[in-house]
Amino acid sequence: MISVILGTQWGDEAKGKLTDYYAGKADISVRFQGGNNAGHTIVVGDETFKLRLISSGVVQGKDVVMGNGMVIDPAILLEELAELRSKNVKIGNIYISERAHVIMPYHKQEDVILEELKGKHKAGTTKRGIGPCYSDKVSRIGIRFVDLIDETVFREKLDVVYDIKKKFFSSLGHEIEHSKQDIINEYGKYADFIREYVTDTSVLLNEANNAGKRILMEGAQATHLDIDFGIYPFNTSSNTVCGGVCTGAGVPPKSIGTVLGIVKAYTTRVGTGPVPTELEDDYGNHLAQKGHEYGTVTGRPRRCGWLDLMLVKYSHMLNHLDGIFITKLDVLNGLDKVKVCTGYEVEGKNVPHFPSNMDIFSKCVPVYKEFKGWDFDTDSVLADGLDSLPKAAKDYLLYVEKALGIPLFGVSIGPKRSQTLVLNEIF
Ligand code: IMP
Repeated sequence: MISVILGTQWGDEAKGKLTDYYAGKADISVRFQGGNNAGHTIVVGDETFKLRLISSGVVQGKDVVMGNGMVIDPAILLEELAELRSKNVKIGNIYISERAHVIMPYHKQEDVILEELKGKHKAGTTKRGIGPCYSDKVSRIGIRFVDLIDETVFREKLDVVYDIKKKFFSSLGHEIEHSKQDIINEYGKYADFIREYVTDTSVLLNEANNAGKRILMEGAQATHLDIDFGIYPFNTSSNTVCGGVCTGAGVPPKSIGTVLGIVKAYTTRVGTGPVPTELEDDYGNHLAQKGHEYGTVTGRPRRCGWLDLMLVKYSHMLNHLDGIFITKLDVLNGLDKVKVCTGYEVEGKNVPHFPSNMDIFSKCVPVYKEFKGWDFDTDSVLADGLDSLPKAAKDYLLYVEKALGIPLFGVSIGPKRSQTLVLNEIF
């Protein structure tokens, strides 16, 4: 049985905590796209885990898979494993897809160079080499894990791509920072460490599914950062939508059961591009401060605004969400009013759905519904389910559920596992 958890906005919806919870019910936990541009924070007791590559289930000793749709920096993988071991996590089996692509040193350098050259079109990337690694995959000059673990093949492929990169960098007035021999030495060490984990994860996952295992597919980034449907060019380079599960993990569409969308109770955005509900006032400061809205990966401050249902509705259309989980409701505590964007207008005219045209999108003016503010004790309020919340907070949640027409599967009111109200399971 395969269930999927996806972000419905621009990422950082606090998915890590929920994937941790649902991974507890799963046998295998899987990442199917992206790389260490993701940052999933999980708090267990006094310990905080910030995972970038490995799927959240690792913290609970589950088997974890890094699917073919991922781009993986081996240095970061080794670091992450070392950190988990130093925190005494009992790590289950680790499987890396033979077909996943390897992030190379020149990808990171290229990320920085291209961002500089793009001027106002720069995406504000995480500079982790994600985009260039995916570009090489599509240009068919990428290096996959199956290549990395075979020294002869690795050298042959590197010979070709290194030459291309050298010419490309030089045409832009740069030199490759790492010599070919340094790369061979460094990546040879990674290969020795990683070899035992590399396998055909598509076969593994399909067999596990046929054997009745519960498989959690953990989305990274979010729907509106998707390479096709995100706000191009200010998006990431992978397919973050539910369809990405099939191409990024190698499982058929009909094997997918429940799809859960994570909705943060407000909107945040890292990087550039329009954000219609952005608040550059005390309300925005309140959200940033109370929500600790600084990037897990880059430490950059996130831009904050009211919840934007236009974003989430479009996510629903693309992903067919069976349920939504609303996170960080507590961050709205203490405000005199709370707003939700229910639609967009451009020059007084209704915009029927989330636009693909960035010029139109940058002109969208949000239409709001306003709610009374609320306050509650985040450590004691969930005993009686939704009824233990203040009426205004409950009204807000029920309004969002109704406006989207998607059942509410749960609410999170703080980083701890205890601060979670689960109304519906996904396995
Ligand atoms: P890249 O994925 O590093 O190429 O960055 C492309 C865009 O996606 C930038 O605007 C990033 O800020 C954004 N981005 C990438 N990963 C995340 C994430 O995990 N959360 C939020 N934004 C992200």
